[in-house]
Amino acid sequence: MVYRPIAINVENLRVEIDGKPILEDINLKVYQGEIVAVVGPNGGGKTTFLKTLLGLVKPSRGKVEVFSFPPKEAVRRHLIGYLPQKVNFKRESCLSALDVVLLGLWYKPISEEEKVKLALEVMDKFGVRNLARERFSNLSGGQQQRVNLARTVVGEPKLLLLDEPTTGVDFPGQQTVYELLKKLRDEKDFTIITVTHDVGVVWKYVDRAVCINRKLHYHGEPAAILKPEILKIVYGTEVVLLFHKH
Ligand SMILES: Nc1ncnc2c1ncn2[C@@H]1O[C@H](COP(=O)(O)OP(=O)(O)O)[C@@H](O)[C@H]1O
Ligand SMILES: [Mg+2]
Repeated sequence: MVYRPIAINVENLRVEIDGKPILEDINLKVYQGEIVAVVGPNGGGKTTFLKTLLGLVKPSRGKVEVFSFPPKEAVRRHLIGYLPQKVNFKRESCLSALDVVLLGLWYKPISEEEKVKLALEVMDKFGVRNLARERFSNLSGGQQQRVNLARTVVGEPKLLLLDEPTTGVDFPGQQTVYELLKKLRDEKDFTIITVTHDVGVVWKYVDRAVCINRKLHYHGEPAAILKPEILKIVYGTEVVLLFHKH
């Protein structure tokens, strides 16, 4: 067995907001290079969990480490790339798609030319290079999401925290995004945590799935998240999965 460093170590995590438990008894280890899908119902605490890994939410109990650092230190060292669930640039913003990707390189001690070259290369991978000079706010939701993904990965952080990265991306596009993330993992050894509702798509591309609904209900084989009994725990209701033909 190859030794792999631990990317994320969470022990007995409890998070309360206004005295209300949002996450309880969460234990999870993620190894460097793993791709983990986080699924669960709306309001289950998935976004809060990512924010805890970023040090934006303070645990009321338990331990959280990212590459053996406290979350805030991992952020300070630019080890984490975060794609929030909602990215708000003002509608009237004049940023081009390329400008948005360049934001992901603000801290790098390299020349503007090199930054633009890197940004365009990553945009090419995500199929949005031809949109580089377009105004970001004029792009479709799916195009904006690909540009945001490019911004998140361009600085090559070691850990990607992606909160519903394929929102607004059509079904073939979702597959492309996950294929690409997997390829990037293979090339760069990224560790990737992706919150998603695309259970019918992601299970093929991830190493593990975890279900969070206040507690961590399941973690293991990704294909198992498709089992009705697990879907029922996750979504709290009977779910019929619609498989897309292609
Ligand atoms: N800033 C906040 N203030 C008050 N309640 C919050 C805040 N952030 C999240 N919550 C609550 O925490 C729970 C989990 O939310 P969230 O982490 O966004 O879930 P998910 O991402 O799984 O939909 C919800 O009940 C939500 O209302
Ligand atoms: Mg959320």
